[in-house]
This record gives sequence, structure tokens and C-alpha cells, in this order.
Amino acid sequence: MAMNRLEELRLRHANAEAGGGEERRKRQHDEGKLSARERIELLLDEDTFEELDKLVRHRCRDFGMEDQVIDGDGFITGYGQVHGRLVYVFAQDFTVFGGSLSETNAKKICKVMDLAMKNGAPVIGLNDSGGARIQEGVLSLGGYAEIFLRNTLASGVIPQISAILGPCAGGAVYSPPITDFVFMVDKTSYMFVTGPDVIKTVTHEDVSKETLGGAMTHNSVSGVAQFIAGDDGACLRMMRKLMDFLPPNNRDSAPRKMTADPIDRMDEALDSLVPRDPGMPYDIKDIIHRIVDDGDFFEVQEHYAMNIVVGFARMDGRTIGIVANQPAHLAGCLDINSSTKGARFVRFCDAFNIPILTLEDVPGFLPGTDQEFGGIIRHGAKLLYAYAEATVPKITVITRKAYGGAYCVMGSKHLRCDINLAYPTAEIAVMGAEGAANIIYRRELSAAEDKEAVLAERIAEYRERFANPFAAAEHGFIDDVIEPRETRPRVIKALRMLENKIDTMPRKKHGNIPL
Ligand code: HXC
Repeated sequence: MAMNRLEELRLRHANAEAGGGEERRKRQHDEGKLSARERIELLLDEDTFEELDKLVRHRCRDFGMEDQVIDGDGFITGYGQVHGRLVYVFAQDFTVFGGSLSETNAKKICKVMDLAMKNGAPVIGLNDSGGARIQEGVLSLGGYAEIFLRNTLASGVIPQISAILGPCAGGAVYSPPITDFVFMVDKTSYMFVTGPDVIKTVTHEDVSKETLGGAMTHNSVSGVAQFIAGDDGACLRMMRKLMDFLPPNNRDSAPRKMTADPIDRMDEALDSLVPRDPGMPYDIKDIIHRIVDDGDFFEVQEHYAMNIVVGFARMDGRTIGIVANQPAHLAGCLDINSSTKGARFVRFCDAFNIPILTLEDVPGFLPGTDQEFGGIIRHGAKLLYAYAEATVPKITVITRKAYGGAYCVMGSKHLRCDINLAYPTAEIAVMGAEGAANIIYRRELSAAEDKEAVLAERIAEYRERFANPFAAAEHGFIDDVIEPRETRPRVIKALRMLENKIDTMPRKKHGNIPL
């Protein structure tokens, strides 16, 4: 009897491991995709995966489903380690009913999410699914909604990371964007609410799957995804790298990582990196690489709204989030997309105790009817709101322009930033000198005989008076003007000083961010 049970157990395990069978697995491989189990193996540290619910079976008795029962019901769930730290994981196996979501495998996901919440560890979801299990009807829809609820409740409590490694369509698309980061694989993954066929019927548009919802579309156009990888393996490695920077939950800090990079390292090259001419572009990432530990910067959403750069790095061994205007793209202007990109990143950092370093060189908000009709007022306010409500340590370094409303938004002292530094090249003013002179001397200019000469003189006067960091420093809006070479040591000193910072929000249920 005992032996029979053992045999049965082995049989059930083997059945779960076989998934949809050799033929379907081959098809998965032929399409350039890994199987769900192979993915988990690459994601987690070796031999750390503990599977749960491998013996779960679906309960559907319609459409001949009673004859097609696969142990585990097509989803692999459990826990393991990434860089020696606990994570929970679920992976949809496309070889079993197209990775579709059933009543029972939805419960498996909910189980690991509940465990993750109780134990304060991240959840990683590997999605590859044809959506709701059609044979189960509303039971499957209910399963989705249960997952969405948990995604929402877990938001800001534990990091939630999603990879899209195949199809993700219909209502199924709503779980990943509630999670903190979405990874996609080029050419094998796609996400859309309604697919090309429905679009063709309704709007007569002809669009391919790839253009509509491929990895590059969501990384560069829609902003739904933050990362793109060349294949499954590269994607899973990238996910591991991200995990290295993150804390396990909102009560703990990210692990400190010792480095041989000296905390007092000066860098003379920084002194000449920002061009004196305010119209000349430069790459803000050159500054980032020069100041962080070992030059290691992990950029988030690299292909979207490139006028703002966000990502993780370490300084003094501790994770920081960097938000930086990019003068090499759209002159570093803030627009709708860069505002929402920056705001979401700032809110992630704030939720998970990650200090924020802002590098500012911004000529203002991007003008144009596209922007105004698109609601730049509302979207720009999101970034402002995110900075204002953030209670983590906030340090801002103004490298060049800090003009107008954008000055206020990008981590100004007035939004309770802790330490605000500026390079000597900083220009902190209501607007650029040329625009300012044209407005305040309009009468004089229209009466002048040699308009150009008068204008040049007035621009020079305005620049002399305001296009520098000293007026702001005189008011204490800037704590110090620093030599660019000392950026790393000065920022690290500030981070150390702020290590035990406590700041709070007024009591409320939650704010009403301008969505
Ligand atoms: C049950 C499914 C399935 C599903 C696929 N399969 N999707 N089984 N429920 N939703 C099965 C197929 O029958 C097939 O079984 C196997 O998975 C592989 O599917 P193929 O079609 O052969 O694969 P492929 O050609 O790669 O096409 C993949 C696909 C397509 C584009 C995802 O399968 C598809 O369009 N599926 C239906 C998608 C869909 O309409 N889902 C419901 C959306 S509504 P065999 O036995 O032949 O291997 C939704 C609402 C969620 O999800 C709402 C949440 C709020």
C-alpha cells in the first residue's frame, strides 16, 4: 500500500513535469522560447526552488476537460532565492492549455502572493498565456480579479516584477502594469487589450501583432514595459540584476554591497563635462557613470521618454534611485511622457525606502498644442506630486539649467528636498536669459533704434544677475555650490547624514494624485 502511494506520487510528479508533452515543448523551443521550468531554473539561484501545488488539478467537467487533467494545472508556483534572498515565483506553462488561467491555477498564484505578503518578499511572475481558460468561463474571470486585487494590495508593500514571455492579451494584461516593473522579450512577447483581428473589424486598421503590442512598442511608445531583452535567458538575467538593487519589502532596506570604489573619489573630468554654452547638449549618463559605485548604473525604461533618465545604482554600497534630465534629448525638457516616467519611478523609490538623487538640467516644460491638449498640466503635476510626497532622503544636484516651473518640480528645496547642491555652471531662473529679456524689455526694445544691440545688452545683464547659482544660494534654496569634481564625495556625505531620516505625511487614507 505504502509503495503504491509512493508510486502514485512519483507518477503525479512526472505528469506535472511533463506539462503539455514533448511535442508542445518542442514547439515552444522552436519559437525561441524556454519552457516554464527552464525559466524558473535560470531565474533562481541553483537548486533553491521549492514547488508548491504541484498536485493541483482543475475541476472543469465541460467540453471534454474531464479527460485532460494535468497535475499542477499548467502553472508552476513556489519560492526560491535570487542572490541568496527569498522570492516567490509563478510561471505559466504555455504547453498546458496555452498557459490559460483556470479557477485552480489562479488560486495557486494567489497562494504565493499571500505568502509573499505575510513574509515580506518579492513576487516574480513569468507570463506566457492565452488568457482566460475559455472552457471555464466566469470562474477564470473571477481568478483574474482575485489576482488583480492582490496586485493592488501588495503594491508598495513588496516589489512585484512581471516578465511577458509570450502572449498576454485581453483582461490578462492588467496584472503586469499594476506590478512595479514589466520585462518583455523582443519578437516573442506581446501585450494588447484587443488584438489585430478585432482592431481590423472595428476600426479597419491593419496592424501586426508586433507593431501593436510587441516588446519595442511597449518599451518605446506606450511606456507599459520598462525593459526589453533579446531572448528569455537575457530577460531572466536582467531580472536578477534588478533584484540585486531592491529591498525585500517596504520595511527593510536594500542590501548594502561593499565596494572598492573610494567614497572620497574626486573626478576632475567632471569639471569640464557640462558645456559652458547653455545651448550645447551633453550626455547626463556620463555624469551618472562617473559618480556611482564602480560606474554601475542600471537604467530603467531606457527607450521611453529619453529626455529623462531614471534607474538604480549604488553609492557607498547602498541602493539609490537616480532621476536625471537628459540634455542630449529634447534639450532635457519635461513633457507628458517624461513626467509620468519620472513620477512612477520616484514613487517606487519612496515606497521602498530608496533615497533619490536628482541631477537637474531642465529648460522647462515642452511647449506645443500636442502637449497642452494631451494634458501636460495634469501629467507634469504628477511628477511634482511624487517629489513632494516622497519622504525618503532626497538630494538634488543642479548641473546647469533649472528654469521656471521645472525648477520647482525637479526636487527643489521647496518640495522638502534635503540637500540641494549646484555646479558653478547652474542657471536658476524663471526662464532663459533671452526669453526673459524679450519680455521685460519689450517696450524698450520696440522703441530702440538698434534693437539687436539693446537686446544683446539686456540679455547679458539678465544672465549676469540670474543665470548663476548664487542668487538661489543667497536665499538658502541651494545649500552649497560645489566643484563638479567633488560630486561623489559630497553626495555620499549627504546620504550618510540622511541615513536615519524620518519624515511623515499628514494622516489621510491616501492622496489624490492627478491621474
Ligand atoms: C484554453 C487555450 C487558450 C485559452 C490557447 N489555448 N488559448 N485553451 N483557453 N484561452 C490552447 C489551444 O487550444 C491550444 O491547445 C494551445 O493552447 C496552444 O494554442 P495555439 O492557438 O495552438 O497557439 P498559437 O498559435 O501560438 O496562438 C496563441 C494564441 C491563441 C494567440 C494565444 O491560442 C489564442 O488566440 N488563444 C485564445 C486567446 C483568447 O481569446 N483568450 C481569451 C481572452 S479573454 P492544443 O491542445 O491544440 O495544444 C481574456 C479575458 C481575461 O483573457 C479577463 C480578465 C479580466
